[in-house]
Amino acid sequence: MLEYLRDLGAQARQRLGQVRKLEELGEWKREYLGKKGAVSELLRGLGGLPAEDRPLVGRAANALRAELEAELERREQVLQQEFVQAALRTERVDVTLPGRRPAVGRVHISHRVLRRIYDIFAEMGFQVFDSPEVETDRRNFRSLNIPPHHPARDMWSTFYTTREGVLLRTHTSPGQAWAMQAYCPEPIRVILPGKCYRYEQVTARSEFMFYQVEGLAVGEGITMADLKGVIIAFTRRMFGSERQVRFRCSYFPFTEPSVEVDMDCILCQGQGCRVCKYTGWVEILGAGMVHPVVLRNGGYDPQHFGGFAFGMGPERITMLKYGINDIRWFFSGDLRFLRSL
Ligand code: PHE
Repeated sequence: MLEYLRDLGAQARQRLGQVRKLEELGEWKREYLGKKGAVSELLRGLGGLPAEDRPLVGRAANALRAELEAELERREQVLQQEFVQAALRTERVDVTLPGRRPAVGRVHISHRVLRRIYDIFAEMGFQVFDSPEVETDRRNFRSLNIPPHHPARDMWSTFYTTREGVLLRTHTSPGQAWAMQAYCPEPIRVILPGKCYRYEQVTARSEFMFYQVEGLAVGEGITMADLKGVIIAFTRRMFGSERQVRFRCSYFPFTEPSVEVDMDCILCQGQGCRVCKYTGWVEILGAGMVHPVVLRNGGYDPQHFGGFAFGMGPERITMLKYGINDIRWFFSGDLRFLRSL
C-alpha cells in the first residue's frame, strides 16, 4: 500500500512537471487532489484495510496530499512568473518611441476678434450687454419701427419657430429694446455682441449664422459727430492709425439719418483689388442716429434724449484683418483654417 502511495506521488509529480499552462493546473488538481481524485479515493478506501495498517497508511496519504498541495502552489507560482515574463517579452513597450503630443486648443478666431472689439469699446466706456438669440417679432421688428408687411423685412428674412411670433433674431438690434428696458431713464453706452440668423443662401460672403456687435449710446446732447468719432476711433484702433473712413447715406427703419461706413481697403491700401471690387473701399458696418420711434418704444422722450447705434459683423472685420476670402471657413470646424490664424 505504501508502495502504491509512493508511485502515485511520483506519477503526480511527474505530471505536474509536464503542466505548461496555468489553465491546465485545474485539471491536474481535479485528478489528484479533487473530491474524486486519486488521493481522496485512497483515503476513502482506508476502511478496507486491516485495522493495524490504517493509521500508517492514513498518515502517509495525508502527508502526500499536503506535499502535493504545496507543490501545486509552487508550480502555480512558477507558471505565473513565466506567464508574466512572456508577456513582458512579447508586449514590450518601446519607451524610446516619440510620444503623442496632446492637442492644445485655442480660442476661436471669431472670439479673439470679439475680445479685441470689447477691449476697444471698453476704452471708450462701452459695457457688454447680453441679449437673447431667440426673439419675438415685436422686438426683432416692431420695436425697431418695422411693422408687419413692411418691405424692409425682406432684408432680414429669418427662421420662424412653430410658436407664433417667436423667431431667431436676424440682427442684434432687438437688444436695443432690452438695453433701454434695463437702463431707462438713465443714459446708455453698451455694445451687444452675439449670434444672429438669416434665412438666406450661404455663400462666400454670407452665412445663415454669424455674429454681430451692436453699439448703442443714448443720452442728452448726443450728436452724429459722436457717432463718427466713435466709429473712426474704433476703425483706427482695430486696423491701424492710417485708416480712412467714409460715411455713405443709407436707410434703416430704426435710425434717422442712417449711414453705411466704409474703410479704405487694407489689402490694397485703397488702390483697388478683388476684395474691394476695385473701388478701394470696403463696407464695415451700418449705423445711424436712433429713430425717435425706437427711443419712444424704449421709454425715452426723443425731445430730450438722442442716441446713435451701429451694427458690425465681426467675421467681416476678421476677414478684412486677416485677408480671409470666404466666411464659410469660420464655422466649418476645419482645423487647417483654425490653426493657420
Ligand atoms: N441691424 C442692422 C443690420 O443688421 C445694422 C444696424 C445696426 C444699422 C444699428 C443701424 C444701426 O443690418
